[in-house]
Formats: sequence, C-alpha cells, structure tokens
Amino acid sequence: MTNMNIVKPSSHAVRQNLIEPLDLFREDHARHMKICDALVERVEDFASGNEPAMLLSAMSFFRDELPRHIRDEEDSLFPLLERHEDYAPQIRKVIKQLRKEHEFDDDLVSFILSDLEVLARGHSLPNPTRLVINIRAFSEGLRRHSNWEEAVVLPLADQYLSREEKLELQSNMAARRIAPN
Ligand SMILES: [Fe+2]
Ligand SMILES: [Fe+2]
Repeated sequence: MTNMNIVKPSSHAVRQNLIEPLDLFREDHARHMKICDALVERVEDFASGNEPAMLLSAMSFFRDELPRHIRDEEDSLFPLLERHEDYAPQIRKVIKQLRKEHEFDDDLVSFILSDLEVLARGHSLPNPTRLVINIRAFSEGLRRHSNWEEAVVLPLADQYLSREEKLELQSNMAARRIAPN
C-alpha cells in the first residue's frame, strides 16, 4: 500500500473541528458542581480524614483545576468581553463583581487547602468543623457564582465575541493546558 491512501488533515480541516470554547466553561461548571456535591455529601467523614481518595481529588481540584478555570476567565474571557464595553456597558459592572467574588473564593480556598494539607500529611485536624463549614460555604458560593456566569456572562460572550475572538479564547485555553504556568 502506498502513502497515497493516507489523508492528513489540513490546518483548515482541523480548525473546522474546534470545540466551542464557551461550552468548555459550561462543562467546567458542571464538573465543579459534581465535585462540590460529592464533597458536601461526605464532608464530615472527609474532614475526619476518612476519605483519602476524595482528599487527593479535592487537592487537585482546589490547587490546579479551579485556579486554571479562574485564569481562563480573568486572563482570557473577561479581557475579550471588555473589548465590547462600549456597546454593552453592563459588561464592566458584571466583570467587576465576578472578579471580586474570585478574590473572596481565593481566601476561602487558602483556608481549605491549608486543612487539606494537614490531612494529606496523615494528621488529624484540630478543628474539623472549620473545614466542614468552609467546604459548605465554598460550594454554595461557587454554585451561585457559576449559575450567574452561565445566566449572564456566557450569553454576553455568545452575543458579542466574534469568531476570531472565540478562536483566540480557545487557543489561550489550550495553551494553558499544554504548558501550565
Ligand atoms: Fe468565575
Ligand atoms: Fe466560572
């Protein structure tokens, strides 16, 4: 058999198969809520150090996945949307509020992670109730925040971002996964 039967996709053909980047945010939100629901469901056992597999997933969620999602929003999606502020003044206000919520989450996540690190070292928490309360509060806040992004920000992005801007968004998100940090 000759190589004539092998058809390599052209760069144009590959681009036709691009995933819609805004759907990646929706998928992230759905996955984050599943992780949070599972954590909340077993939070007391978890905070007592009795869920080692869940502990590892939680660490990777709080340490890697969530910060990357926030960078996708703050460093890629929001700046693209801000280009359209002149046509849609509500964008500025919405993004300001979302950035504030990310900052608040960041503080809560630092407290959660410091407790998770104690558990990961095989120690008991001096105050497991603090972790229970923080995980419940975080999950509730994240649900509200993600719902708001889905109801307001993603529809604005759908409406205002051009095809080229969506490609730019997709390419930034891909780069962040290929070479983290
Ligand atoms: Fe967000
Ligand atoms: Fe989000």
